[in-house]
Amino acid sequence: MVSIDVAFVLELVPDDLTGKTTVVIDVLRATSTILAALAGGAPHIVPVATLEEAQVLAAKYGERGGCYLGGERNRLRPPGFDFGNSPREYLQLPEAKPIVFTTTNGTRALQRVASSKQILIASMANGSAVAERLLASASDVLLVCSGTLGKIAAEDVLCAGLIIAEVEKRAPVVQLTDGARIALASYRQAACNLEQFFLQTTSGQGLSQLGLKEDVLHAARSNYSSLVPSYADGYISV
Ligand code: MLT
Repeated sequence: MVSIDVAFVLELVPDDLTGKTTVVIDVLRATSTILAALAGGAPHIVPVATLEEAQVLAAKYGERGGCYLGGERNRLRPPGFDFGNSPREYLQLPEAKPIVFTTTNGTRALQRVASSKQILIASMANGSAVAERLLASASDVLLVCSGTLGKIAAEDVLCAGLIIAEVEKRAPVVQLTDGARIALASYRQAACNLEQFFLQTTSGQGLSQLGLKEDVLHAARSNYSSLVPSYADGYISV
């Protein structure tokens, strides 16, 4: 890797990502959930944009042994879905079935970076593993913060900062853009109490008000997973 940049919201992602490795981040909660589901036994995840697409695809899977339907709208499990968007729901899946998955911002982010050479999925849980994977690649890196409907989500920026901190530890010569420096500085300032920081963010507060504070605390835990999911040909897998 030569340089690292950060897009703070999807609207700042360039159209042409040819030759770049992009890392999609939606800590609260889509990418934390994707990681939990793959760790929990899902062979792969198929992200789709709409509830209708999800239902149609799930019906097709039904003809071939089935899948789970997971995701959220307004942070809640849509009617008829097997699971919502809580990482804790996926930690031990009853069966090792694929998951058709749709969320408000996370799945939109995956579509936005479709022109990249390589697409990786990050949350706080796999920050150091993602950093190691990036160091092994020769391309420039764009860390993509999904944000919330066009607004910056602070927890996504902190996750970008965590990945940059883990890269810097191993390779201090990597070139950082100003965006990357801002993310790194924010992470360093918040690192001593990530849980409290996450609970104060807009999403952290919204989830807590719905009784989902444990999801926020779960998503704040860093660097314990060695899985690095990638997204290619419509599938997320490890
Ligand atoms: C999203 O993709 O918009 C989020 O992950 C929302 C949520 O917390 O469920």
